[in-house]
Amino acid sequence: MVKLIGKKKINVSVFISGRGSNLKSLINFSRKSSQIRIKLVISNNKNAKGLDFANKNNIKFKIINYKNKNLAENKILRYLKKNNVKLILLAGFMKILSKKFTDRFKNRILNIHPSLLPKYKGLETHKKVLKNKENYTGCTIHLVNSKLDSGKIILQKKIKVFKNDNEITLSKRLLKVENKLYPKAVKKYLETNL
Ligand code: GRF
Repeated sequence: MVKLIGKKKINVSVFISGRGSNLKSLINFSRKSSQIRIKLVISNNKNAKGLDFANKNNIKFKIINYKNKNLAENKILRYLKKNNVKLILLAGFMKILSKKFTDRFKNRILNIHPSLLPKYKGLETHKKVLKNKENYTGCTIHLVNSKLDSGKIILQKKIKVFKNDNEITLSKRLLKVENKLYPKAVKKYLETNL
């Protein structure tokens, strides 16, 4: 594992595709913390609402055309190198990174997933949780490897599923928890020799 902790701030890139509430909370964390600097936001979607947060906070962003995945990833890798990015935080990024990419940033990509992994990998987690009448669900921050939602778990937080919950109420309640947990997980990741 690459030891990232030191006196200097670590250059981070956050990858998004949409709303960007986790990006927002990571920006707030980076302002208070002496550990990370968000150098670059990557989005595959030019209409991602999260880009507004990057804009407002004077954070550079790049919109990547994903028609050709290989070319898109090569382009991203060039931007990351140019900006001396050492750590990638996936925050609602809806593209799956290739093995070539995850190998290049081995143990240096984190993701937030809205379930208690290893349960409910992939999409529509809340729908599946409700269908299976689970009493609890939650969110997970984990390392990213070449297998979907399968890398080492850094932090998880459990929440209760209420009888009258639907996908909207559940995802709303969990999102607040996610937004608090992601910065904590980044801190933990940086401070422990994972
Ligand atoms: C979150 O629920 C996250 O767990 C999932 O995608 C959603 C992103 O939300 N991977 P936001 O764009 O950060 O608001």
